Amino acid sequence: MFETLTKAPGDKILALMGEYAADPRPTKIDLGVGVYKDEAGVTPIMSAVKKAEQRILAQGKTKTYLGIAGNKGFGAAVLDLVLGDTLDRSRVRIAQAPGGTGSLWVLMQLVNRARPGATIWVSDPTWPNHNPIAENSGLVVKTYPYFDAETRGVRFEEMLATLDGLGKDDVVLLHGCCHNPTGANLTNAQWDQVAASLAKTGALPFIDLAYLGFGDGLAADAYGTLKVVSAVPEALIAFSGSKNFGLYRERIGAAILIARDAAQADITQSQLLNIIRGSYSQPPDHGAEIIRTILEDAELRSEWEAELDLMRNRMIRLREKLSTAIRTKSNAADFDFIAAHRGMFSLLGLENAVVEHLKAANGIYMIGDSRINVAGIPEDRVDDLAEAMLAAIK
Ligand code: LMR
Repeated sequence: MFETLTKAPGDKILALMGEYAADPRPTKIDLGVGVYKDEAGVTPIMSAVKKAEQRILAQGKTKTYLGIAGNKGFGAAVLDLVLGDTLDRSRVRIAQAPGGTGSLWVLMQLVNRARPGATIWVSDPTWPNHNPIAENSGLVVKTYPYFDAETRGVRFEEMLATLDGLGKDDVVLLHGCCHNPTGANLTNAQWDQVAASLAKTGALPFIDLAYLGFGDGLAADAYGTLKVVSAVPEALIAFSGSKNFGLYRERIGAAILIARDAAQADITQSQLLNIIRGSYSQPPDHGAEIIRTILEDAELRSEWEAELDLMRNRMIRLREKLSTAIRTKSNAADFDFIAAHRGMFSLLGLENAVVEHLKAANGIYMIGDSRINVAGIPEDRVDDLAEAMLAAIK
């Protein structure tokens, strides 16, 4: 049977995790996979999460099945967190899914049931796993212009021109905030224009919301999502609790669908639940119950928000320190964009040979396209990193 198979390509982000782990150099720096790290270089369990887990352990009464849509309290709490009172909830449905990736997967399957072989437009560039998820779901992937390699900002006019040319059979994948891999984000005024374009063309917005709270704060980061979903009759959102709750390995996310009306929402949700039942049957509870416990409890919720603020501010501080260090050492403002970017990542625009050199010579690991995870920068090594980068690009 298996002799028909050839070796599948590895995932470049996860492969780099393995390479870094195998590097014996104590001075190595991991700017690869998108996991938050604190001053000690540790990906911590948030204190609100620890407390929620203690409660769950003490109070849990059953391990019976959750049901296909998952933990209901989690679903309601996530809708409150993401949408607030922006939309009439009778048009909105949610299903828990395994991580942001699982949410993307079931929603792309849903799109393919509605419009087999539809085209999904993704930003150029985008998170490398978007393409396989879409293609494995039967969709056709095309790109819209996004990153400007010169300015390290967004090629907004070209992006908008492409979106303006789409039609109602097209799907547009948008990063709700904290663009991965570039770190370059739309301004609120640009989101307004994107929302107006989608409303005009009828293309379906599909928002990947994996980093809510990692850019400028929970409310600020939701601006684009809320603007878009308020402007259109139908939309999809893939929410992740991996980063903002630090629950990476619990695989907790949610697929949110917004339909024209309640009747259409019921029909569409029935298809979504049918997809879930036919793939992994129903989701696991632990991560969902943690998030429900935190969001439903005022004290735990404010503890979580304060912790999230600390994480975000640390990333912003590291951005400022690195761009200042490079400017001071080189007398050039070429890397000032690092401070202007938001979220976990910045695409530095370095040649692949430079990326490879930094890894071989300095033990500095970043993704091959020169994406760095700013949370991975040890605060006391900012100067080392700046010097190594400047030496490598000379
Ligand atoms: C990343 O982009 O590094 C994260 O989203 C982790 C992953 O699964 O790729």
